[in-house]
Amino acid sequence: MCGIVGVVSGSNVNEKLFNGLSNLEYRGYDSVGMCFINGSNLNIKKGVGKLEEVHKKVDFSKLKGNIGIGHCRWSTHGRVTEKNAHPHVDCKNKVSVVHNGIIENYSELKDELIKKGHKFCSQTDTEVIAHLIEDNLKNSRIEEAVRLALSRIEGSYALGILFADEPGKLIAARNESPLIIGIGKNENFIASDVPSILSHTNKIIYLDDREIAVLTRNSHKIFDISGKQKPKKIHTIKWSAEAAKKEGYKHFMLKEIHEQPRAIADTLNERIQNSHVVFEKEFGLSDDYLKKINRIVIVACGTSWHAALTGEFMLEELAKIPTEVEYASEFRYRHPLMGKNTLVIAISQSGETADTIAALKEAKKYGVKTLSICNVMGSSITRISDGVIYTRAGPEIGVASTKAFTTQLAVLYLFTILLSKLKKTLNQEQIKGMIDGIRKIPLQLQTVLDEDDEILECAELYYNKLNSIYLGRGINFPIALEGALKLKEVSYIHAEGYPAAEMKHGPIALIDKNMPVVVIAPHDVYTYKKVLGNIEEVKARGGIIIAIASEDDKLIPKKAKHTIFIPKTLYTLSSILAAVPLQLLAYHIADKLGRDIDKPRNLAKSVVVE
Ligand code: F6R
Repeated sequence: MCGIVGVVSGSNVNEKLFNGLSNLEYRGYDSVGMCFINGSNLNIKKGVGKLEEVHKKVDFSKLKGNIGIGHCRWSTHGRVTEKNAHPHVDCKNKVSVVHNGIIENYSELKDELIKKGHKFCSQTDTEVIAHLIEDNLKNSRIEEAVRLALSRIEGSYALGILFADEPGKLIAARNESPLIIGIGKNENFIASDVPSILSHTNKIIYLDDREIAVLTRNSHKIFDISGKQKPKKIHTIKWSAEAAKKEGYKHFMLKEIHEQPRAIADTLNERIQNSHVVFEKEFGLSDDYLKKINRIVIVACGTSWHAALTGEFMLEELAKIPTEVEYASEFRYRHPLMGKNTLVIAISQSGETADTIAALKEAKKYGVKTLSICNVMGSSITRISDGVIYTRAGPEIGVASTKAFTTQLAVLYLFTILLSKLKKTLNQEQIKGMIDGIRKIPLQLQTVLDEDDEILECAELYYNKLNSIYLGRGINFPIALEGALKLKEVSYIHAEGYPAAEMKHGPIALIDKNMPVVVIAPHDVYTYKKVLGNIEEVKARGGIIIAIASEDDKLIPKKAKHTIFIPKTLYTLSSILAAVPLQLLAYHIADKLGRDIDKPRNLAKSVVVE
């Protein structure tokens, strides 16, 4: 995910572009760049790092002009380098492009353009767009050249394009990546979201897929991909600038919870091919090596540690590889026993958690291979491990981790499928069943999100309780831990996650009529009946049972005070579906209590200190 912004005006647009990028930084902050036209020259400044860091190095204020485009990057193709930062230009430095999205057929297009003599400077998919337009400019005017270029492109894009030879014209286009047009007074805008330009205009046109916009400072025309002009409605936005940054959601946490269907779909994208799991080049571990692994150690902290526990269950149950999960902070100060064929996996949303980095470094001293599962491209953890699998949750701004967690589970599930195939612990039919199961998850998650009423009711009834208990078994025990952590973090209510059957060995003493007990009890052949027994134990002592159950369950609603249903899925995948109502429950309770949900007290998004 990247952010793009563009302005065409009657006066210098430097400040507007800079502020727009600053508002968009949540979308990506590994590198940033801007392009202005002054006279008939493209003037570009870009660099690696956050906006302010790059500004200190290159001084964006030196760029002047009445038209400009800007970009903040969250890398997908090509490492985080200055050359790969946007904008990208053609061979003659006449066409400048900023892009958010992924061009799927870029390597074929790049080969074709190289054969025609085009010279590429970056490893990005975006640069092909500039060269493709340049190629079409030989025989067409700029609008037509853009249209012809886009008709060759497969994949997603939101684009801002400037032409040195037409210094009053800004072209924008979109397909499956967000892009809006802002209509101002004697100036017009493009942006990845409304808030980045809301202080200049609240008159917005939403571009649809495969539409191209041609903007001057006092005109706007929208065309479809065949070149036919389209009438478009101008919307008046009523959000405050602050609320709008969250796209209408009250908090980033809620927005990010609702992004999970998209985040999981992105995380799966292109990694399942003909019923096989295929990771990108940066995965870095060969099949021969993976076949030899006889032990896995996973290191992580907090929510990522809960994902690791779920991974342990998957890897042992399905790939039959002995797996241990360690708190990164403990692992780094032990002298762990490592065999030659032990793989160490580090899980981290940020890739910058100090304890996890240290644990990974400790593992490397033993000469074992390391793999990271991470959400931030180019972060420290990804640079020091032998291989990386990226979760594609997009930037997570709310301090309480939500979409990063469920995408970590999705990656662990894919990795388990790959190992199960290489180790021959599952046959192709079983693997196909697993793949079919995860493909359904984004849609199933949407149904969980759409049925928030019961969760809201629970929040309203129990937000003033001082304690609560979360119970789960098997793969859903870590989900109980995660549910309790979410509640603690954002509401400051004390919560304990416990394996359901361990209750009777002590904590059951806490149960009385004031204790909400959240029980994760999806239908499965392993522990379902036992969990029913555990529910009875709590009920007999007066506890308030909130159950997470499979959609067709007839028994649990008779026993629980509240039942939140999740769609039917494979047992290993029930953990992803069950996590979401627990995130929502924590969110709504904290909201009722008026907590600072996105920035809970004492917490930071990345714990970069020991
Ligand atoms: C909880 C939370 C933290 C992080 C932990 C590790 O919601 O966000 O517990 O999971 O600090 O952070 P990463 O995953 O960035 O290493």
